[in-house]
Amino acid sequence: MDLPKEIRYRPYQEWSEQEFQLIKAKVSDSPWHVHYHIEPRTGLLNDPNGFSYFNGRYHLFYQNWPYGPAHGLKQWVHLISDDLVHFEETGIKLLPDHANDKEGAYSGSAYALANQLFLFYTGNVRDANWLRDPRQIGAYLSTDGQIKKCSQVLISQPKDVTEHFRDPQIFEYQDQLYAIIGAQSHKKRAFIKLYKAINNDVENWEFVSNLDIGRQASEYMIECPNLVFIDQRPVLIYCPQGLSKKELDYANIYPNTYQIFDAFDPASGRLLGQGPLRNLDFGFEIYATQAFNSPDGRVLAISWIGLPDIDYPTDNYAYQGALSLVKELTIKDDILYQRPVRALSDLKMKPQMLEQRKDTSNCYLLEITVPSHEQKSLVLFADRKGQGLAITVNTQEGKITLDRSQSSNSFAEKFGNKRSCQIPKGDVTLNIYVDRSIVEIFVNEGQFVLTSRYFPEEEASALLMPDGELEGFYYEMRY
Ligand code: FRU
Repeated sequence: MDLPKEIRYRPYQEWSEQEFQLIKAKVSDSPWHVHYHIEPRTGLLNDPNGFSYFNGRYHLFYQNWPYGPAHGLKQWVHLISDDLVHFEETGIKLLPDHANDKEGAYSGSAYALANQLFLFYTGNVRDANWLRDPRQIGAYLSTDGQIKKCSQVLISQPKDVTEHFRDPQIFEYQDQLYAIIGAQSHKKRAFIKLYKAINNDVENWEFVSNLDIGRQASEYMIECPNLVFIDQRPVLIYCPQGLSKKELDYANIYPNTYQIFDAFDPASGRLLGQGPLRNLDFGFEIYATQAFNSPDGRVLAISWIGLPDIDYPTDNYAYQGALSLVKELTIKDDILYQRPVRALSDLKMKPQMLEQRKDTSNCYLLEITVPSHEQKSLVLFADRKGQGLAITVNTQEGKITLDRSQSSNSFAEKFGNKRSCQIPKGDVTLNIYVDRSIVEIFVNEGQFVLTSRYFPEEEASALLMPDGELEGFYYEMRY
């Protein structure tokens, strides 16, 4: 939603309790609240931040402007979890309350030290002429939930980058700490800067080089870069804004992509043996995915189900955005597989057979197999006229299509109302997680993923199979 800058950057302390209560009341009126995903209590949620394991629990934050469905003065909101399925908001916040982050505590990552969680993030600072000075700064979260910010800037804007320099990801590689940061050159081309922590001191960084990712970027900015290691192979997950469609076909306003490499040479700042640039997700919305190598050996990722510069139907209820399920990343045949963490099956209630027309709670999981040489479809959130979100799978051609053109609460139509993805021909399995206004479709155990919002009318909750019955199970999801 377009709101004047004066409102979006109004200091938090100037909002009265009464104004905040009005916002809360609006939010609570929404018919589209999700049950087993994370959404903001009020206002806008965007990037996941600081995803990590510390002090025996998983930690996660999200970007938030609490006063409306717009990108305003951002804070980080903290959540903890034991199982990556149930998250508890703790009330801890990384506020924009310091000279180095006064126009927003922008995105960043976390690294667990012995007794503290180090948060490495971008301070959005603007001068009287609204010129931006992006500062890479740090803070510590103690085991008793206190935030202490470093007083100094850890990395300042280098000479060869514009004001677009943000989203540090801190990671360890062969016992050395590194950070990568998204950047833009004065020629308006994107690149990633690589830094190294001197003596592994998180407050002391030296520049290594611009990261060689094996391709000349056509994009003008890279947001939220993440480097993780799966079976020793580097995987770079990032958001190349303005990417040429000649390089990669994508339909959303901004893509979220990945590349798999064979090796990382930190001394020269090169990622070697690059694989092709691929879409991370084929649905209508996914962005700012954050991933990390968890100490238990898993590589975990979570995404923002939303996109910058898009208005959503929930804007009328003073909130916007949600986070995806937590996904475990693996590599098979040079493809990045994304599968919801196993603990999610704890939410499954008893299996039911699929039926031609099923009344649902709009909060369920479908596990379906589509046999080869078939075209089958499903309509989720179907209303009395049988209209809803249509998913069509053609196992002969090898294609899955998502069509939200029948929605009566349409949005972002400028970017089309269909999405599709090429899939291998032959039998296809689908795991479809539905949560009130979110749909996450995992094809072939995570080989391809399509994530989308859909905002049904109050009574629209039938599940239809217009091309005949499909084999599979329906599970209500507990929450
Ligand atoms: C991506 C992003 C980041 C930035 C943050 C601000 O969605 O633009 O680059 O740090 O959001 O909220």
